[in-house]
Amino acid sequence: MLLWPSASGRSAVLEKLPLFVGLSQADLGRISRLIREVEVPAGRPVAAAGEAGRELFVIVDGRALVTTRRGGRVRLGPGDFFGEMSLIDGEPRSASVEATTPMRLLVLGYREFWQLLDESLPIVRRIMRTLSRRLRQAEKSAVA
Ligand code: CMP
Repeated sequence: MLLWPSASGRSAVLEKLPLFVGLSQADLGRISRLIREVEVPAGRPVAAAGEAGRELFVIVDGRALVTTRRGGRVRLGPGDFFGEMSLIDGEPRSASVEATTPMRLLVLGYREFWQLLDESLPIVRRIMRTLSRRLRQAEKSAVA
């Protein structure tokens, strides 16, 4: 069953996710109108390295495996997001992402992603922080 029943139900889901925590109810309400929800079965690819990507995914439930083009593997879980890189620079997906368990994902399209960033500096900061961490992590695994 999808967990996207009502405006207040949507805000309650969003405010538990690190990307959206601490935002006002008005902000959460606005964001919930930009986002849609999908369920993905275990084993399903959600993003494919080298393909065009115009969506950001936020994990509500379930786990995913990111496999980079150099073979690096990163596991993501509830509260994590992925797909931001292609939205930001317009380049193809940098890695493949596959659901390793059944997943519930929030999906934000290109236009909605940029609208969200235009409206919310806290979200811009959180995405920048995650990108910076991912870059450091990738550097570390390249050296190891
Ligand atoms: P994008 O390139 O749009 O699509 C694949 C996604 O995998 C990418 O955005 C990031 O969200 C994610 N990703 C790529 N590399 C890493 C990494 N080293 N650590 C965590 N996530 C990554």
